[in-house]
Amino acid sequence: MTARIIDGKAIAGEIRSELALQVKQLVKEGRRPGLAVVLVGDNPASEVYVRMKKRACEEIGVYSVVHSLPAEITQEKLLDLIDELNQDPKIHGMLVQLPLPSGLDESAVISRISPEKDVDGFHPLNVGRLWIGGEGFVPCTPAGVLELVQRAEVPISGKKVVVVGRSNIVGKPVISLFLRENATVTVCHSRTENLAEECAQADILIVAVGRPHLVKKDWVKPGAVVIDVGINRVDGKLVGDVDFENVSQVAALITPVPGGVGPMTIAMLLKATVDAAARS
Ligand code: GUN
Repeated sequence: MTARIIDGKAIAGEIRSELALQVKQLVKEGRRPGLAVVLVGDNPASEVYVRMKKRACEEIGVYSVVHSLPAEITQEKLLDLIDELNQDPKIHGMLVQLPLPSGLDESAVISRISPEKDVDGFHPLNVGRLWIGGEGFVPCTPAGVLELVQRAEVPISGKKVVVVGRSNIVGKPVISLFLRENATVTVCHSRTENLAEECAQADILIVAVGRPHLVKKDWVKPGAVVIDVGINRVDGKLVGDVDFENVSQVAALITPVPGGVGPMTIAMLLKATVDAAARS
């Protein structure tokens, strides 16, 4: 058996085309969506992500502004900028690219963002809304994972979902999102005993730990759906947390790296920004 590939790049492209039409309409009504991105310091990976986010905005007609601040910025000055953006009517969504340089209080910074502009869904209020079932922003990568599974027409309700990884950005919100879709969710992490056996129970296996090729062929139930959220650089090549070549011989559906979950993150960020403008 050879798995069918879930083409995240193509699906993200469809979403961006849908959004471009919606933006056109909003612009006609004088409500062009706007995104502010705050980048502190000179983390090269963060610089790449921020550039990609800005370009993606431009492509669909969303107004965007990047505030690049030196690593030595004070906490107070950073909070002042967030206050300013909270008040700016041109800005419907804002995010502070993580990680922040040492010396800055990440949790205080995130909490300062207006929950109604928190397109990353990292503010504690939006985290709480996700868990208790209210309306709010959902973190972009987990939202992209769910969207991929749904667009691939994979049934979720009643199915066994195993999540490997428990980060605040991916693992935890993924648990919550799939629970909301009535899956039976198991969460595994670095201390889990018999990880391979836990994974082999999954109808849908979602891996987000940042360990290249961790998940092997015999960890995967034949016919399972495998979603690889990992992005690791090995010998200059991007690889996921799943041994794609071998696992794709047993899985029914699998996401590649690159070209799987990755492109969905920015598509969902754009969607959150457009939705925020539409609500304004
Ligand atoms: N760093 C890694 N992923 C993310 C993300 O989704 N949002 C922000 N703000 N920072 C990140």
